[in-house]
Amino acid sequence: MTIIEPFRIKSVEPITFTTREQRTAILNKAAYNPFLIKADDVIIDLLTDSGTSAMSSAQWAGIMIGDESYAGSNSFFNFEKTIQDITGMPIVIPTHQGRAAEKILFSIIGGKGKFIVSNTLFDTTRANIEVSGAEGVDLLCPVGKVPQVPAPFKGNMDVTALELFIKEKGAANIPLCMITVTNNSGGGQPVSMQNIRDVKRVCSAHGIPLFIDACRFAENSYFIKIREKEFADKSVPEIAAEMFSYADGCTMSAKKDAFANIGGFIALRDEALALKCRNLLIITEGFPTYGGLAGRDLEAIAIGLREVMDEHYLQYRIRSIEYLTEKLIAAGVPVMQPAGGHAVYIDAKAFLPHIPSQQYPGQALVAALYLEGGIRSVEIGSLMFGKYDEGGHLVPAMMELVRLAIPRRVYTQSHIDYVSEVIIKVFNDREQIKGLAITYEAPTLRHFTARLMEIS
Ligand code: F0G
Repeated sequence: MTIIEPFRIKSVEPITFTTREQRTAILNKAAYNPFLIKADDVIIDLLTDSGTSAMSSAQWAGIMIGDESYAGSNSFFNFEKTIQDITGMPIVIPTHQGRAAEKILFSIIGGKGKFIVSNTLFDTTRANIEVSGAEGVDLLCPVGKVPQVPAPFKGNMDVTALELFIKEKGAANIPLCMITVTNNSGGGQPVSMQNIRDVKRVCSAHGIPLFIDACRFAENSYFIKIREKEFADKSVPEIAAEMFSYADGCTMSAKKDAFANIGGFIALRDEALALKCRNLLIITEGFPTYGGLAGRDLEAIAIGLREVMDEHYLQYRIRSIEYLTEKLIAAGVPVMQPAGGHAVYIDAKAFLPHIPSQQYPGQALVAALYLEGGIRSVEIGSLMFGKYDEGGHLVPAMMELVRLAIPRRVYTQSHIDYVSEVIIKVFNDREQIKGLAITYEAPTLRHFTARLMEIS
């Protein structure tokens, strides 16, 4: 049976169509950077699943009853209670988005000489760690680094590598271990409950707190349900509760698995750490019962966090990513396998073997998809994560991926069919795609503002 969208559409937004000729001019003007293209000039926008969800009628109703009191707003208590129920953590600190939560946490626990270990840190998380003077260390399991080899939990942390790293650097220099669920930068791949337990055991033995980057906790919980035998009969809220039970805290961007357009939070068990976080929050975000958010946002997040754990929704969500992945595999397009939770990742290195990492094959593919079909995607490769060595030569990223992130509840099956047709057309014409060179770059998070040109 076809797994159908578990919702009806009540409100729609028109899509603006462009011709290939128009897109050529738009892409040139945007210097081959999708972040510099106007949203109106995009036909299908798969830049991110962050803040791009369609809210439900219940969430819109919540917007109307948002309590905008500066202190002690009723919407805060709904928000707090929901997060306490899901995570079992008593302390809930709202922030305006995920990176604000990271900024607060790592300003307090980071600093020079410290190491934050992870399966894979997201780019803003890594940047906030590095800005504090600390170093971020990704210890992903080996199979997670091979895009086209399928395995059920490619987001797992390498527990042996973690033990060795702790031995080498000393637990005193590792103030925190952070597991990202699902592993966004590593293909949206899930982390198993067993892996979280194993990591927890190692962390506990050394007194290192374990945190979860919980952006996509519901998608990860559903993967655990369908792929880890022990959890087949458990509900998603039960699985999420167990996952969080191993953590000392979490940060979350509510722009993902809360169906909200903005928002985030820190949840904690440690009152002393919470006190420091709140003090910083008041300076940078706002009073602890709103933390940079309007009451209406707190209300929408609280409702979205409960909706996202619905298993009909999660089944459709995971299936829709798998559906696109399957179509691409059938046409021979090299993609990350198995399908991740929120996005399809094309292996640009294998897609464009004639373009070396120094010429940013991922970004070249992003440009080609836009030109062909007005599809906006994002490079997760050497433009995003590449570094320079002392001689000024590019040290490429581990993988050259292009991410097609699917906004939640936004596109229908025919939109996804169109996306697959465009990608397959580009794949068949791939030899014509040329590499790119950077003409401008910022010192940090350069992919957002970089300007590039085609190498002729
Ligand atoms: N952690 C993960 C795993 C993320 O994917 C993101 C954002 C953040 C933290 C930061 O949250 O945007 O609310 O400040 N990811 C978006 C993306 C931007 O496109 O994947 P934020």
